[in-house]
Order: sequence, then C-alpha cells, then structure tokens
Amino acid sequence: MLPPLRAGVAGLGTVGASVLRLLERQRRTLELRTGRAIVVTGVSARSRGRDRGIDLSNAEWHDDPVALARSSDIDLFIELIGGADGPALDSTKVALEAGKSVVTANKAMLAHHGLALAKIAEAKGVGLRFEASVAGGIPIVKTLREGLVGNSIERVYGILNGTCNYIHSRMEAEKISFADCLSAAQKLGYAEADPTFDIGGFDTAHKLAILTSLAFGTAVDAEAVAVEGIESITLDDLQAADDLGYRIKLLGVAKRTPSGIEQRVHPTMVRKSSAIAQIMGVTNAVVVNADAVREMTLAGPGAGGDATASAVVADIADIAKGDRTPGFGLPVASLAPLERAPLQAHQGGYYIRLSLHDRPGAAAAVAMRMAESQISLESIIQRSQPGANADAPVPVTFITHATHEDALRHAVDAVVADGHIAAKPQVIRIERE
Ligand code: HSE
Repeated sequence: MLPPLRAGVAGLGTVGASVLRLLERQRRTLELRTGRAIVVTGVSARSRGRDRGIDLSNAEWHDDPVALARSSDIDLFIELIGGADGPALDSTKVALEAGKSVVTANKAMLAHHGLALAKIAEAKGVGLRFEASVAGGIPIVKTLREGLVGNSIERVYGILNGTCNYIHSRMEAEKISFADCLSAAQKLGYAEADPTFDIGGFDTAHKLAILTSLAFGTAVDAEAVAVEGIESITLDDLQAADDLGYRIKLLGVAKRTPSGIEQRVHPTMVRKSSAIAQIMGVTNAVVVNADAVREMTLAGPGAGGDATASAVVADIADIAKGDRTPGFGLPVASLAPLERAPLQAHQGGYYIRLSLHDRPGAAAAVAMRMAESQISLESIIQRSQPGANADAPVPVTFITHATHEDALRHAVDAVVADGHIAAKPQVIRIERE
C-alpha cells in the first residue's frame, strides 16, 4: 500500500467545503479505488472563524495560501480560490515549483496562464489537473484528453455557463425579465462573484479556450475567442426563436475551418429538435464531432458545490494513482500555436430581427440588400403587434441560409443606412447540429 496522499486545500467556499465533505464521505471507496488514503493535512481560506459545517481540526490552518503551497506537509495542492491572477496564481506556481501536483477548478487562471503552469508541472514531473474548470461535474476534460485520444476532432461546442442557460430557460418558460432571472441565479449560487463574467460570455470563453486546446492540440489562447454576451437578448427574441422552431442558447463553439480554428462565444439559435436545445436550467452540455465517434453529447450539472467537487475529487484520485499525463494531453512543446480563423470568415445561417417602418417598399428594400450580398433567405416572418398604432414599426424576422459573416454584416449595414428601420437590428448566428 502506498503512503497516504497529503492534500492541502486553498479556498473553502462552496466548492472547497463540498470537496472536503465528499472526500470524507467517500474516504473508504477512494482508498480502495486509488490504493492509498487521501488525507487533508492543510487548509487555507480568508476567514478562519467562519462556520462551514466541516471538521478542520486535523488540518493545519494557513492564513496565506502561498504558505500552504510551500508546506512540506502536503504532496498535492488543491487550488479553489479563483481569479486569473493574485493568490490563486501565486500559490499554484509556488506549489508546482516546489514539486507538488496541483488540482484546480480555476478556468480564468488556466485560460490565461495554463501553458506557463503546464510547463512548470512538466519540468518538475508533477501533475496539473483541472477537470472542474469546465462544465462543472461533466468529465469533458478527461473525455477529450483520454477517452477520445484516437479521434480527430472537428468541432466541440456547448452550453458552458449554467447561469446564462438558467436565465434563458426561465425567461422563455415564464416570460420574466432578464434582471429577475439573473438575481435568482445569483441567489442560487450559480453566478460568478462578478456576474458580468457569466452574462458577458467571458466565463464561457475561458472554458472554451481550455476545451479548444484539448480538442485540437493547440496552445490555450483565450485572446483568440470572439465573445458576445447575452445582455441584448430580449423576450421578443426568445418568442421569435420559438415561432421559428429554434431556441436561443449561449454557446461556446470551437471548430476546425480551412482558415484555422474558429473560437466563438455568442447567443446562438439551435433547432428545437437538437440535443443541445433540450438542455435547460443550470445544466451544461458539450457536443463533440469527431471522425471516429461522429457525434457525442455529454450533459450534466454545470455549477454548484457537489457537482464541481465531483470533478475535483476525480482529479485528486488520478494524482493519488500516480497519473502524470500532461494536463493538456500533450507535452507543452508539442502544442501547436493556435491559428485563429477570423470571425468575418465564419459561414453559417443567421437570424435577423428588424423593427421595420410600416411603409411600402421597406421589406422589399431589405430583401434587395440581402440579394445584393448573395444572401439567400430561408424564411421571413412579419407580424403586426395586436393593438399597435397603424404607423408603428413592425417586427420582421429573417432566417438566412448559410452565408459569410462579412456578407451578412455588409447587408445589415446597408439596411441601416437605407433608413427603413426604427431600432438597432438584432443578429444571432445559427448553429446546425
Ligand atoms: N458561473 C459559472 C456558471 C459557474 O454559471 O456556469 C461554473 O463555472
């Protein structure tokens, strides 16, 4: 029997406390499955006095996570502090430099410093694991890194932010406002400390950058993700999507294209019949398209203490078993620089919602601008609002066949310049399954 694995946990918030509870609850099972005991010998958090409902009497307390990372009483450092830089990054670096493996749930840190950290881990011959950083309890990191190692991946996309999916699901089902749904998500503990990370799409972008690296063997490049948030999506858009047979989801999409790897995060129309459209509430889902498995969808809880702790504990178990597979699946020197496909080169269908002045020739002028840009329309719906003034603008929605982003933008700019519309156009990309 191997000696016990001595773990230090930095950050005792919702996830940290859940990890400690899960390690305790599954103590015997984990010992059997890994061949050794896992013992928490040190902890660090901001407030020592807070009652977390967990017994910390056997773990040494450190006010400073860096001191815990350096402690000779731990073999494994578990970073659950959060934030791309600051104490999370400092302590993680110190732990790796000191030859300790690291398990982290920190997507922002990995998206911005993942490569540098993986380099240190490699040089020191220790593990760097981050299953909990993407899609909460769904084991998508291990699936891409190990389960699909024999595949060439074409596209990976998914619902990677529970808060946004929760907001859209409730807005759609209950017709309540964006602001009310967001505050409910905050109360339920799904949202980031700063919820603009969720609704602005940045949390999804961090997670996508990690998945892209694992899927395509490229260096993590969070700067190369095109990001649009969900702030502009209204109840009218959700209703119009429903009328047209679609749902709106905030997706992160990474795709191999002839001009490089496309990485984008934006509100997206998906057909109501697709697997991804069925994902409601805080649930996350990831779809992988690859040559051998063709298509695979994993769905599960994307946020919350227990679900995230499940992923953290899986990583701890791997480290306990001695698994030192490179975190991103390849030695850092073998990760190719990411060749970024420009968003203007994106090809796909689009939803366009216009508020059109109700006068002769307005719709025809829009159709003409689309035709000039070689854009073929799949459907057009014009519906007057019951009880509206005769001269009030009318909402008109268009669905296009696949076209180029730059052609679409050119046509929409021309429509705006023509002066037939009463408000800023809404444009949402469509993702086909
Ligand atoms: N704020 C994140 C979400 C938590 O809503 O999905 C999990 O990363």
